[in-house]
Amino acid sequence: MKPFRSLPVDRRAFLGGCGAMLATSLLPRAGVAGGTPVTITARPGQASLLEDGGPLADIWGYDGGVPGPALRMRQGETLSVLFRNDLPQPSTIHWHGIRIDNAYDGVAGLTQEAVPPGETFEYRITAPDAGTYWYHPHNRSWEQLARGLYGVLVVEEPGAKAYDREQVLVFDDWRLGEDGRIDEATFGNMHDWSHHGRLGNVLTVNAAPYFTAPGRPGERLRLRILNTANARVLSLRFAGLSPRVIALDGQPVEPHALNADTLVIAPAQRADLIVDIPLGGGRFPIEEVSLQPYAAAEIVAAGEAIVRIAPLPEDIGLPANPLPAHLAMNDALPVELLMQGGAMGSLREGKFHGRMMDIRELVQNGMAWTFNGTAGSHHDPALFSAPRGRTVHMPIVNDTNWQHAIHIHGHHFRVLSRDGKPEAAPVWRDTVLTEPGERVEIAFVADNPGKWMIHCHMLEHQAAGMGAWFEVA
Ligand code: C2O
Ligand code: CU
Repeated sequence: MKPFRSLPVDRRAFLGGCGAMLATSLLPRAGVAGGTPVTITARPGQASLLEDGGPLADIWGYDGGVPGPALRMRQGETLSVLFRNDLPQPSTIHWHGIRIDNAYDGVAGLTQEAVPPGETFEYRITAPDAGTYWYHPHNRSWEQLARGLYGVLVVEEPGAKAYDREQVLVFDDWRLGEDGRIDEATFGNMHDWSHHGRLGNVLTVNAAPYFTAPGRPGERLRLRILNTANARVLSLRFAGLSPRVIALDGQPVEPHALNADTLVIAPAQRADLIVDIPLGGGRFPIEEVSLQPYAAAEIVAAGEAIVRIAPLPEDIGLPANPLPAHLAMNDALPVELLMQGGAMGSLREGKFHGRMMDIRELVQNGMAWTFNGTAGSHHDPALFSAPRGRTVHMPIVNDTNWQHAIHIHGHHFRVLSRDGKPEAAPVWRDTVLTEPGERVEIAFVADNPGKWMIHCHMLEHQAAGMGAWFEVA
Protein backbone atom coordinates (compact mmCIF):
# COMPACT_ATOMS: atom_id res chain seq x y z
CA MET A 1 0.00 0.00 0.00
CA LYS A 2 1.14 3.50 -0.73
CA PRO A 3 1.81 5.61 2.35
CA PHE A 4 0.03 8.91 2.64
CA ARG A 5 1.98 11.77 1.12
CA SER A 6 3.62 14.03 3.61
CA LEU A 7 2.22 17.51 3.60
CA PRO A 8 4.36 20.24 2.10
CA VAL A 9 4.46 22.38 5.22
CA ASP A 10 4.50 21.87 8.93
CA ARG A 11 0.93 21.07 9.81
CA ARG A 12 1.26 22.55 13.24
CA ALA A 13 1.38 25.96 11.62
CA PHE A 14 -2.30 25.55 10.84
CA LEU A 15 -3.52 24.97 14.36
CA GLY A 16 -6.68 26.85 15.06
CA GLY A 17 -7.04 27.76 11.40
CA CYS A 18 -9.42 25.86 9.26
CA GLY A 19 -10.45 23.39 11.96
CA ALA A 20 -12.70 25.73 13.83
CA MET A 21 -14.33 26.86 10.61
CA LEU A 22 -15.09 23.34 9.44
CA ALA A 23 -16.53 22.36 12.78
CA THR A 24 -19.37 24.79 12.29
CA SER A 25 -20.41 23.02 9.12
CA LEU A 26 -21.05 19.98 11.30
CA LEU A 27 -23.42 21.68 13.67
CA PRO A 28 -27.05 20.68 13.53
CA ARG A 29 -29.00 22.67 10.99
CA ALA A 30 -32.09 24.48 12.01
CA GLY A 31 -35.26 22.96 10.63
CA VAL A 32 -33.86 19.46 10.27
CA ALA A 33 -35.43 17.74 13.23
CA GLY A 34 -39.09 17.33 14.02
CA GLY A 35 -40.30 16.17 10.62
CA THR A 36 -39.73 19.47 8.84
CA PRO A 37 -38.70 18.70 5.24
CA VAL A 38 -35.16 19.57 4.34
CA THR A 39 -33.73 19.89 0.85
CA ILE A 40 -30.35 18.41 0.04
CA THR A 41 -28.82 19.19 -3.31
CA ALA A 42 -25.98 17.14 -4.73
CA ARG A 43 -23.84 19.49 -6.78
CA PRO A 44 -20.28 20.35 -7.70
CA GLY A 45 -18.28 22.38 -5.21
CA GLN A 46 -14.73 23.03 -4.15
CA ALA A 47 -12.57 22.04 -1.22
CA SER A 48 -8.99 22.53 -0.17
CA LEU A 49 -7.88 19.00 0.64
CA LEU A 50 -4.11 19.07 0.32
CA GLU A 51 -3.35 21.85 2.74
CA ASP A 52 -5.41 24.48 4.48
CA GLY A 53 -5.74 27.45 2.17
CA GLY A 54 -4.03 25.40 -0.54
CA PRO A 55 -5.16 24.65 -4.08
CA LEU A 56 -8.85 23.98 -4.52
CA ALA A 57 -10.10 20.65 -5.76
CA ASP A 58 -13.34 20.27 -7.68
CA ILE A 59 -15.53 18.01 -5.59
CA TRP A 60 -19.09 16.82 -5.65
CA GLY A 61 -20.86 17.45 -2.39
CA TYR A 62 -24.26 17.56 -0.73
CA ASP A 63 -25.19 21.23 -0.83
CA GLY A 64 -21.80 21.62 -2.50
CA GLY A 65 -19.81 20.85 0.65
CA VAL A 66 -17.91 17.94 2.08
CA PRO A 67 -18.97 16.43 4.37
CA GLY A 68 -22.53 17.31 3.45
CA PRO A 69 -24.94 18.87 5.95
CA ALA A 70 -24.94 17.04 9.27
CA LEU A 71 -28.44 15.73 9.82
CA ARG A 72 -29.80 15.09 13.28
CA MET A 73 -33.05 13.52 14.29
CA ARG A 74 -34.49 11.95 17.39
CA GLN A 75 -34.96 8.23 17.67
CA GLY A 76 -38.30 7.18 16.20
CA GLU A 77 -38.83 10.51 14.49
CA THR A 78 -39.47 10.86 10.76
CA LEU A 79 -37.35 13.11 8.59
CA SER A 80 -38.33 14.11 5.07
CA VAL A 81 -35.52 14.91 2.70
CA LEU A 82 -36.12 16.32 -0.73
CA PHE A 83 -33.10 15.22 -2.74
CA ARG A 84 -32.21 17.37 -5.71
CA ASN A 85 -29.66 16.16 -8.20
CA ASP A 86 -27.59 18.94 -9.74
CA LEU A 87 -24.75 16.61 -10.68
CA PRO A 88 -23.85 15.75 -14.27
CA GLN A 89 -24.73 12.10 -13.43
CA PRO A 90 -27.79 10.25 -12.12
CA SER A 91 -27.63 9.69 -8.36
CA THR A 92 -29.54 8.63 -5.24
CA ILE A 93 -29.18 8.84 -1.49
CA HIS A 94 -28.75 5.70 0.61
CA TRP A 95 -29.12 6.02 4.38
CA HIS A 96 -26.40 3.71 5.57
CA GLY A 97 -27.23 1.64 8.64
CA ILE A 98 -30.78 2.90 9.05
CA ARG A 99 -33.31 0.08 9.24
CA ILE A 100 -35.40 2.03 6.81
CA ASP A 101 -38.56 1.48 4.79
CA ASN A 102 -37.36 -0.32 1.65
CA ALA A 103 -38.85 2.30 -0.70
CA TYR A 104 -36.38 4.88 0.66
CA ASP A 105 -33.23 2.74 0.75
CA GLY A 106 -31.87 4.59 -2.28
CA VAL A 107 -30.39 1.71 -4.26
CA ALA A 108 -30.47 2.63 -7.93
CA GLY A 109 -31.82 -0.24 -10.02
CA LEU A 110 -33.22 -2.13 -7.03
CA THR A 111 -35.40 0.11 -4.86
CA GLN A 112 -35.69 3.10 -7.19
CA GLU A 113 -34.52 4.46 -10.51
CA ALA A 114 -31.50 6.74 -10.23
CA VAL A 115 -32.54 10.39 -10.12
CA PRO A 116 -31.50 12.06 -13.39
CA PRO A 117 -29.68 15.42 -13.38
CA GLY A 118 -32.12 18.23 -12.66
CA GLU A 119 -34.69 16.03 -10.95
CA THR A 120 -35.74 15.30 -7.38
CA PHE A 121 -36.79 12.43 -5.12
CA GLU A 122 -38.35 12.62 -1.70
CA TYR A 123 -37.03 10.33 1.02
CA ARG A 124 -38.87 9.68 4.25
CA ILE A 125 -36.61 8.36 6.94
CA THR A 126 -37.85 6.89 10.17
CA ALA A 127 -35.01 5.81 12.41
CA PRO A 128 -35.85 3.03 14.85
CA ASP A 129 -32.32 3.02 16.26
CA ALA A 130 -30.32 5.80 17.86
CA GLY A 131 -26.69 6.08 16.83
CA THR A 132 -24.15 7.33 14.30
CA TYR A 133 -25.12 6.78 10.67
CA TRP A 134 -24.32 8.36 7.34
CA TYR A 135 -25.71 8.94 3.89
CA HIS A 136 -24.15 8.59 0.45
CA PRO A 137 -25.12 7.84 -3.16
CA HIS A 138 -25.93 4.32 -4.31
CA ASN A 139 -25.25 4.81 -7.98
CA ARG A 140 -21.67 4.67 -9.24
CA SER A 141 -20.74 4.85 -5.55
CA TRP A 142 -17.08 4.16 -6.35
CA GLU A 143 -16.90 7.46 -8.23
CA GLN A 144 -19.49 9.57 -6.42
CA LEU A 145 -18.15 8.91 -2.90
CA ALA A 146 -14.55 9.42 -4.04
CA ARG A 147 -15.62 12.85 -5.32
CA GLY A 148 -16.96 13.80 -1.88
CA LEU A 149 -20.62 12.81 -1.71
CA TYR A 150 -21.32 11.80 1.88
CA GLY A 151 -22.75 13.25 5.07
CA VAL A 152 -23.37 12.28 8.67
CA LEU A 153 -26.77 11.36 10.11
CA VAL A 154 -27.01 11.32 13.89
CA VAL A 155 -30.01 9.76 15.58
CA GLU A 156 -30.20 10.97 19.16
CA GLU A 157 -31.13 8.66 22.01
CA PRO A 158 -33.51 9.94 24.66
CA GLY A 159 -32.41 10.59 28.21
CA ALA A 160 -29.56 12.31 29.99
CA LYS A 161 -26.20 12.37 28.27
CA ALA A 162 -23.19 10.94 30.06
CA TYR A 163 -20.79 13.33 28.29
CA ASP A 164 -20.30 17.08 27.99
CA ARG A 165 -20.12 17.46 24.25
CA GLU A 166 -19.77 15.51 21.06
CA GLN A 167 -17.40 15.73 18.15
CA VAL A 168 -17.95 14.16 14.73
CA LEU A 169 -14.79 12.95 13.00
CA VAL A 170 -15.26 11.78 9.41
CA PHE A 171 -12.16 10.08 8.02
CA ASP A 172 -11.66 9.85 4.27
CA ASP A 173 -8.71 9.22 2.03
CA TRP A 174 -8.52 10.97 -1.28
CA ARG A 175 -6.47 10.25 -4.33
CA LEU A 176 -5.13 13.63 -5.36
CA GLY A 177 -2.66 14.81 -7.95
CA GLU A 178 0.28 17.08 -7.16
CA ASP A 179 -2.00 20.02 -7.91
CA GLY A 180 -4.39 19.01 -5.14
CA ARG A 181 -7.11 17.95 -7.58
CA ILE A 182 -8.96 14.66 -7.50
CA ASP A 183 -7.24 12.09 -9.68
CA GLU A 184 -9.97 11.38 -12.20
CA ALA A 185 -7.78 9.47 -14.63
CA THR A 186 -7.81 6.41 -12.36
CA PHE A 187 -11.58 6.16 -11.91
CA GLY A 188 -12.56 2.71 -13.15
CA ASN A 189 -8.96 1.50 -13.01
CA MET A 190 -9.08 -2.30 -13.24
CA HIS A 191 -5.96 -2.63 -11.11
CA ASP A 192 -7.74 -0.89 -8.21
CA TRP A 193 -10.88 -2.91 -8.84
CA SER A 194 -9.11 -6.26 -8.71
CA HIS A 195 -6.80 -5.38 -5.81
CA HIS A 196 -7.61 -3.46 -2.63
CA GLY A 197 -9.78 -0.80 -4.26
CA ARG A 198 -9.12 2.90 -4.67
CA LEU A 199 -6.64 3.82 -1.95
CA GLY A 200 -5.97 7.50 -1.53
CA ASN A 201 -2.80 9.42 -0.84
CA VAL A 202 -4.24 12.16 1.38
CA LEU A 203 -6.10 11.42 4.60
CA THR A 204 -8.59 14.02 5.76
CA VAL A 205 -10.80 14.43 8.80
CA ASN A 206 -14.00 16.42 8.15
CA ALA A 207 -12.34 17.14 4.78
CA ALA A 208 -9.50 19.03 6.47
CA PRO A 209 -5.95 17.86 5.86
CA TYR A 210 -5.33 18.31 9.57
CA PHE A 211 -8.40 18.72 11.69
CA THR A 212 -8.24 20.49 15.03
CA ALA A 213 -11.04 19.77 17.46
CA PRO A 214 -11.42 22.09 20.40
CA GLY A 215 -11.65 20.65 23.88
CA ARG A 216 -11.44 21.72 27.50
CA PRO A 217 -9.42 20.31 30.34
CA GLY A 218 -11.49 17.76 32.23
CA GLU A 219 -14.11 17.57 29.51
CA ARG A 220 -15.78 14.28 28.60
CA LEU A 221 -16.29 13.97 24.85
CA ARG A 222 -18.27 11.58 22.73
CA LEU A 223 -16.37 11.06 19.49
CA ARG A 224 -18.48 9.91 16.58
CA ILE A 225 -15.96 8.38 14.18
CA LEU A 226 -16.80 7.41 10.61
CA ASN A 227 -14.71 5.91 7.83
CA THR A 228 -16.09 7.09 4.50
CA ALA A 229 -13.08 5.99 2.44
CA ASN A 230 -13.76 3.90 -0.66
CA ALA A 231 -11.41 1.14 0.39
CA ARG A 232 -8.96 2.08 3.14
CA VAL A 233 -9.18 0.24 6.47
CA LEU A 234 -7.97 2.64 9.17
CA SER A 235 -6.14 1.91 12.40
CA LEU A 236 -6.48 4.85 14.75
CA ARG A 237 -4.62 5.67 17.95
CA PHE A 238 -5.46 8.26 20.55
CA ALA A 239 -2.29 9.05 22.47
CA GLY A 240 -2.85 10.39 25.98
CA LEU A 241 -6.55 9.55 26.01
CA SER A 242 -7.99 6.20 26.99
CA PRO A 243 -11.05 5.87 24.78
CA ARG A 244 -13.91 3.62 25.75
CA VAL A 245 -16.06 2.21 22.97
CA ILE A 246 -19.79 2.73 23.56
CA ALA A 247 -21.23 1.94 20.11
CA LEU A 248 -20.25 0.25 16.86
CA ASP A 249 -22.12 0.94 13.61
CA GLY A 250 -24.63 2.88 15.70
CA GLN A 251 -25.45 -0.02 18.03
CA PRO A 252 -24.56 0.25 21.72
CA VAL A 253 -21.93 -2.09 23.11
CA GLU A 254 -20.88 -2.81 26.67
CA PRO A 255 -18.41 0.04 27.27
CA HIS A 256 -14.87 -1.26 26.84
CA ALA A 257 -11.33 -0.11 26.15
CA LEU A 258 -9.82 -0.37 22.68
CA ASN A 259 -8.17 -3.62 21.77
CA ALA A 260 -4.38 -2.96 21.77
CA ASP A 261 -5.11 0.79 22.06
CA THR A 262 -6.16 0.79 18.40
CA LEU A 263 -9.48 1.37 16.69
CA VAL A 264 -9.62 -0.66 13.49
CA ILE A 265 -12.37 0.81 11.36
CA ALA A 266 -13.23 -0.49 7.90
CA PRO A 267 -14.91 1.51 5.14
CA ALA A 268 -18.51 2.44 6.13
CA GLN A 269 -18.06 1.42 9.77
CA ARG A 270 -18.63 3.80 12.68
CA ALA A 271 -17.44 3.83 16.27
CA ASP A 272 -18.60 6.00 19.14
CA LEU A 273 -15.94 6.58 21.78
CA ILE A 274 -15.93 8.32 25.14
CA VAL A 275 -12.73 10.16 25.99
CA ASP A 276 -11.91 12.03 29.16
CA ILE A 277 -9.57 14.92 28.59
CA PRO A 278 -7.08 15.06 31.45
CA LEU A 279 -7.45 17.98 33.86
CA GLY A 280 -4.05 19.26 32.77
CA GLY A 281 -5.35 19.73 29.23
CA GLY A 282 -2.94 19.56 26.30
CA ARG A 283 -2.78 18.37 22.71
CA PHE A 284 -3.99 14.92 21.80
CA PRO A 285 -3.12 13.81 18.28
CA ILE A 286 -5.21 11.16 16.55
CA GLU A 287 -2.91 9.04 14.45
CA GLU A 288 -3.49 6.56 11.65
CA VAL A 289 -0.99 3.76 12.22
CA SER A 290 -1.63 1.13 9.55
CA LEU A 291 1.35 2.49 7.60
CA GLN A 292 3.78 4.86 9.25
CA PRO A 293 2.11 6.75 12.09
CA TYR A 294 0.38 9.72 10.52
CA ALA A 295 -1.26 12.46 12.56
CA ALA A 296 -4.64 13.20 10.97
CA ALA A 297 -6.32 15.28 13.63
CA GLU A 298 -5.79 16.66 17.06
CA ILE A 299 -7.88 17.56 20.07
CA VAL A 300 -6.54 20.73 21.63
CA ALA A 301 -7.68 21.27 25.19
CA ALA A 302 -6.66 24.62 26.57
CA GLY A 303 -8.03 27.24 28.95
CA GLU A 304 -10.11 26.77 32.04
CA ALA A 305 -11.06 23.29 33.17
CA ILE A 306 -14.70 22.46 32.66
CA VAL A 307 -17.08 23.16 35.53
CA ARG A 308 -20.34 21.22 35.62
CA ILE A 309 -23.48 22.36 37.35
CA ALA A 310 -24.53 18.75 37.90
CA PRO A 311 -22.24 15.71 37.70
CA LEU A 312 -22.50 13.54 34.60
CA PRO A 313 -24.36 10.24 34.88
CA GLU A 314 -21.97 7.56 36.06
CA ASP A 315 -22.88 4.94 33.47
CA ILE A 316 -21.50 5.83 30.03
CA GLY A 317 -23.37 2.93 28.39
CA LEU A 318 -26.08 3.82 25.87
CA PRO A 319 -29.69 2.63 26.07
CA ALA A 320 -30.36 -0.46 23.95
CA ASN A 321 -31.93 -0.07 20.51
CA PRO A 322 -35.08 -2.05 19.66
CA LEU A 323 -33.28 -4.75 17.67
CA PRO A 324 -35.02 -8.12 17.28
CA ALA A 325 -34.44 -9.67 20.66
CA HIS A 326 -34.19 -13.29 19.70
CA LEU A 327 -32.13 -15.08 17.07
CA ALA A 328 -33.84 -18.43 16.45
CA MET A 329 -30.64 -20.28 15.59
CA ASN A 330 -32.23 -23.74 15.71
CA ASP A 331 -34.68 -22.84 12.99
CA ALA A 332 -32.42 -20.47 11.05
CA LEU A 333 -32.24 -20.27 7.26
CA PRO A 334 -28.65 -21.19 6.35
CA VAL A 335 -27.13 -19.01 3.61
CA GLU A 336 -23.43 -19.28 2.98
CA LEU A 337 -21.72 -16.33 1.31
CA LEU A 338 -18.58 -17.41 -0.53
CA MET A 339 -16.35 -14.60 -1.77
CA GLN A 340 -13.88 -15.37 -4.53
CA GLY A 341 -11.79 -13.58 -7.09
CA GLY A 342 -9.43 -10.65 -7.14
CA ALA A 343 -5.76 -10.49 -7.94
CA MET A 344 -3.76 -13.59 -7.02
CA GLY A 345 -6.99 -15.47 -6.38
CA SER A 346 -8.04 -18.89 -7.51
CA LEU A 347 -11.14 -17.81 -9.44
CA ARG A 348 -11.14 -19.33 -12.93
CA GLU A 349 -14.70 -18.64 -13.99
CA GLY A 350 -17.91 -17.06 -12.82
CA LYS A 351 -21.42 -16.23 -13.90
CA PHE A 352 -22.18 -12.77 -15.19
CA HIS A 353 -25.55 -11.69 -16.60
CA GLY A 354 -26.64 -15.30 -16.48
CA ARG A 355 -23.73 -16.64 -18.52
CA MET A 356 -20.65 -18.59 -17.44
CA MET A 357 -17.48 -16.69 -18.32
CA ASP A 358 -13.82 -17.47 -17.84
CA ILE A 359 -11.79 -15.00 -15.83
CA ARG A 360 -10.51 -13.22 -18.94
CA GLU A 361 -14.02 -12.54 -20.18
CA LEU A 362 -15.15 -11.48 -16.71
CA VAL A 363 -12.35 -8.91 -16.57
CA GLN A 364 -13.30 -7.67 -20.05
CA ASN A 365 -16.70 -6.96 -18.53
CA GLY A 366 -15.16 -5.10 -15.59
CA MET A 367 -15.75 -7.99 -13.19
CA ALA A 368 -13.15 -9.45 -10.85
CA TRP A 369 -15.05 -10.90 -7.88
CA THR A 370 -17.92 -13.27 -7.21
CA PHE A 371 -20.43 -14.01 -4.48
CA ASN A 372 -21.33 -17.69 -4.64
CA GLY A 373 -19.94 -17.96 -8.16
CA THR A 374 -21.76 -14.95 -9.61
CA ALA A 375 -20.37 -11.52 -10.35
CA GLY A 376 -23.41 -9.70 -9.08
CA SER A 377 -25.86 -7.25 -10.45
CA HIS A 378 -29.42 -6.29 -9.66
CA HIS A 379 -30.58 -8.18 -12.72
CA ASP A 380 -29.57 -11.53 -11.26
CA PRO A 381 -32.05 -13.57 -9.26
CA ALA A 382 -32.06 -12.97 -5.50
CA LEU A 383 -29.22 -14.53 -3.53
CA PHE A 384 -31.89 -15.85 -1.19
CA SER A 385 -35.32 -14.97 0.00
CA ALA A 386 -36.46 -15.18 3.58
CA PRO A 387 -39.94 -15.17 5.02
CA ARG A 388 -40.44 -12.16 7.24
CA GLY A 389 -39.30 -12.84 10.78
CA ARG A 390 -37.02 -15.77 9.90
CA THR A 391 -33.52 -15.82 11.35
CA VAL A 392 -30.81 -15.98 8.67
CA HIS A 393 -27.58 -17.72 9.61
CA MET A 394 -24.81 -16.66 7.27
CA PRO A 395 -21.27 -17.95 7.32
CA ILE A 396 -19.19 -15.52 5.24
CA VAL A 397 -16.17 -17.18 3.68
CA ASN A 398 -13.40 -14.93 2.41
CA ASP A 399 -11.66 -17.17 -0.12
CA THR A 400 -9.58 -14.29 -1.51
CA ASN A 401 -6.28 -12.62 -0.72
CA TRP A 402 -7.93 -9.33 0.22
CA GLN A 403 -9.88 -7.80 3.04
CA HIS A 404 -13.59 -7.21 2.50
CA ALA A 405 -16.11 -5.15 4.45
CA ILE A 406 -19.47 -6.84 3.99
CA HIS A 407 -22.51 -4.62 4.42
CA ILE A 408 -26.16 -5.66 4.66
CA HIS A 409 -28.95 -3.19 3.98
CA GLY A 410 -32.07 -2.69 6.07
CA HIS A 411 -30.90 -4.88 8.96
CA HIS A 412 -28.19 -5.13 11.57
CA PHE A 413 -26.61 -8.50 12.20
CA ARG A 414 -24.90 -10.20 15.11
CA VAL A 415 -21.27 -11.25 14.57
CA LEU A 416 -21.17 -14.73 16.14
CA SER A 417 -17.77 -16.22 15.43
CA ARG A 418 -14.50 -15.86 13.54
CA ASP A 419 -12.78 -18.96 12.19
CA GLY A 420 -15.00 -21.12 14.37
CA LYS A 421 -14.08 -19.23 17.53
CA PRO A 422 -17.18 -17.74 19.16
CA GLU A 423 -16.97 -14.02 19.79
CA ALA A 424 -16.53 -13.30 23.49
CA ALA A 425 -18.87 -10.32 23.26
CA PRO A 426 -20.93 -10.59 20.06
CA VAL A 427 -21.76 -7.18 18.61
CA TRP A 428 -24.45 -5.91 16.27
CA ARG A 429 -23.13 -4.37 13.08
CA ASP A 430 -24.19 -3.36 9.61
CA THR A 431 -20.71 -3.81 8.11
CA VAL A 432 -18.20 -6.50 9.06
CA LEU A 433 -14.54 -6.65 8.10
CA THR A 434 -13.25 -10.03 6.98
CA GLU A 435 -9.59 -10.94 6.58
CA PRO A 436 -8.16 -13.06 3.74
CA GLY A 437 -8.98 -16.71 4.38
CA GLU A 438 -11.29 -15.88 7.24
CA ARG A 439 -14.73 -17.35 7.94
CA VAL A 440 -17.03 -15.04 9.85
CA GLU A 441 -20.41 -16.24 11.01
CA ILE A 442 -23.24 -13.75 11.31
CA ALA A 443 -26.96 -13.99 11.97
CA PHE A 444 -29.90 -11.64 11.77
CA VAL A 445 -33.67 -11.64 11.84
CA ALA A 446 -34.97 -10.85 8.36
CA ASP A 447 -37.76 -8.64 9.66
CA ASN A 448 -37.72 -5.73 7.23
CA PRO A 449 -39.74 -6.48 4.10
CA GLY A 450 -38.33 -5.59 0.70
CA LYS A 451 -35.35 -6.04 -1.58
CA TRP A 452 -32.06 -5.45 0.16
CA MET A 453 -28.48 -5.36 -0.98
CA ILE A 454 -25.58 -7.23 0.47
CA HIS A 455 -22.22 -6.07 -0.84
CA CYS A 456 -18.62 -5.30 -0.11
CA HIS A 457 -18.25 -1.67 0.99
CA MET A 458 -14.88 -1.47 -0.66
CA LEU A 459 -16.65 0.27 -3.46
CA GLU A 460 -14.43 -0.93 -6.29
CA HIS A 461 -15.05 -4.51 -5.18
CA GLN A 462 -18.77 -3.85 -5.21
CA ALA A 463 -18.52 -2.38 -8.71
CA ALA A 464 -16.45 -5.35 -9.88
CA GLY A 465 -18.92 -8.01 -8.80
CA MET A 466 -19.20 -8.16 -4.99
CA GLY A 467 -22.85 -7.34 -4.74
CA ALA A 468 -26.11 -9.22 -4.56
CA TRP A 469 -29.60 -8.76 -3.18
CA PHE A 470 -32.02 -10.72 -1.06
CA GLU A 471 -35.71 -10.48 -0.49
CA VAL A 472 -37.70 -10.44 2.72
CA ALA A 473 -41.35 -11.20 2.02
CU1 C2O B 1 -23.07 2.39 2.56
CU2 C2O B 1 -24.90 -0.30 0.08
O1 C2O B 1 -23.99 1.07 1.30
CU1 CU C 1 -14.24 -6.28 -0.92
